Amino acid sequence: MQRIRMWAVGALALSALGGCADDKPIKVADTKAMMNLHVQPEAEIFWEAVQYVSDEKGSREIVPQSDAEWNRTAEAARKLQALGESMKQPEYAQGKGADWLAFTQGMVDVAGQAEQAALTHSKEKVLEVGGTLYNVCSACHEVYMPSPGGLAPVVAGANRPSS
Ligand code: HEC
Repeated sequence: MQRIRMWAVGALALSALGGCADDKPIKVADTKAMMNLHVQPEAEIFWEAVQYVSDEKGSREIVPQSDAEWNRTAEAARKLQALGESMKQPEYAQGKGADWLAFTQGMVDVAGQAEQAALTHSKEKVLEVGGTLYNVCSACHEVYMPSPGGLAPVVAGANRPSS
């Protein structure tokens, strides 16, 4: 337990320093912890960057408003690439078979497209690639999640079919 804690804290400290794709793979204790601590939060930053909201105040679009906000969106995608790379490491991949590597590579590739979309400030692309990213998450979860009842994360704006 003590060791698990220390790893988790180390990984948090790394991401607080603004780790990028060149950093050493982040090591956390287990897949579930790394998903909850890193993958999900970064994916949410990306998914929430561009959204169509419809409520009692009417319909409106949420889009990054400044270079800083676009950069934060791109940075989230960059971190997802690094996290996908980390998941190829033996502490995550061991015993999982070749499909695991295909899914992790899929996440790296799509997160790369996501970064490009944010770097070019294209809201349409961010929305579209966000949908693809969601499918990549779900595809791996369908195969590897211990209890399918847990299911893929549902995020507003992300599970809409991309067009
Ligand atoms: C290569 C496979 C793979 C990919 C890709 C993947 N996940 Fe996961 N994810 C897992 C596995 C396996 C678990 C279950 C871990 C466990 O319970 O031991 C999991 C669990 C989770 C959980 C925790 C659910 C819970 O029960 O607490 C969240 C949240 C999550 N993933 C989000 C994401 C998001 C968001 C993405 C895409 C950006 C993603 N995952 C991509 C394999 C993957």
